[in-house]
Amino acid sequence: QDVPLRLTRTELFDFHGVSMINYFTDNWDKVQNFQAKPDDVVIATYPKAGTTWVSHLLDLLYFGASAPERGVSVPLIERVPFLEIYLPAFSLSGVEMLDKMTTSPRLIKTHLPIQFVPKSFWEQKSRIVYVARNAKDSAVSYFHFDRMNCLQPEPGDWASYLQRFREGKVTFGSWYDHVTGWWEKSQTSPNLLYLHYEDLAEDIDRELERLCSFLDVCPTEEERRRAKEGAKFDAMKDNVMTNGTLIKAMDPKISPFMRKGKVGDWKNHFTVSQNEQFDREYREKMANPALRFRTEI
Ligand code: A3P
Repeated sequence: QDVPLRLTRTELFDFHGVSMINYFTDNWDKVQNFQAKPDDVVIATYPKAGTTWVSHLLDLLYFGASAPERGVSVPLIERVPFLEIYLPAFSLSGVEMLDKMTTSPRLIKTHLPIQFVPKSFWEQKSRIVYVARNAKDSAVSYFHFDRMNCLQPEPGDWASYLQRFREGKVTFGSWYDHVTGWWEKSQTSPNLLYLHYEDLAEDIDRELERLCSFLDVCPTEEERRRAKEGAKFDAMKDNVMTNGTLIKAMDPKISPFMRKGKVGDWKNHFTVSQNEQFDREYREKMANPALRFRTEI
């Protein structure tokens, strides 16, 4: 008998000290034993840091010349599979998609905190691009995402959501742990490039240059221009392959996936007292002066 396919919100649970939902842990052994390749390129982020942006940008950079239509004809989830996602009812398994992939390099998305990254990526010295975004804009973006994505736990109202974000009681755990864990690793790993959303927003040419040099890719001026144009916020918002409309779990009537794409939207959400409280806690938790975030540009 056919069981109706339904996407349902689920509960967070503690998974080795990190708040997770089962859609990202059910395939754990296969994720942990994932076989990386030396030319794999991983895009790692805490959710809402610009994963989709950098994924699409890198895909255009690598394949824009050989397959110019790919960016507007193949859904991003197929071009850049999401390693840990596992929704067998929808035939969606990141590991399986990656194992079947024949193009190279494989571009791989993950939100895993540093301690959960499959060891094969380090053994194979695959290149990893980590993108970090300031905590306040990440919290706002995540709140709206959790409202419109019916796989995520109920976000509740903004005040209660912010409280849970601060405590790390959101999927993939604490923002603080995530960005600092990856930062520390980047200090000793030449195969890991740590980028900031705010830097990308400020000067995409400069950041593209850093990416090309890290990844050892030499696009022509025209290829670079096309990648840059295709990965602009408005272009991605209009592109069905990137704007989330193909993802059944999301309801754009509640909030669009390509929402604002700005630095500083937190100012429209945080009250003065929420901001003061957040700043106090932030100063304590982010004691390392080497890791700086900008909340405006
Ligand atoms: P907002 O909710 O603040 O608008 P992720 O892809 O990691 O889920 O991140 C989503 C955030 O990145 C959203 O932020 C989204 O609008 C923003 N974003 C996506 N594409 C972008 C682009 N090309 N330029 C700037 N921001 C982009």
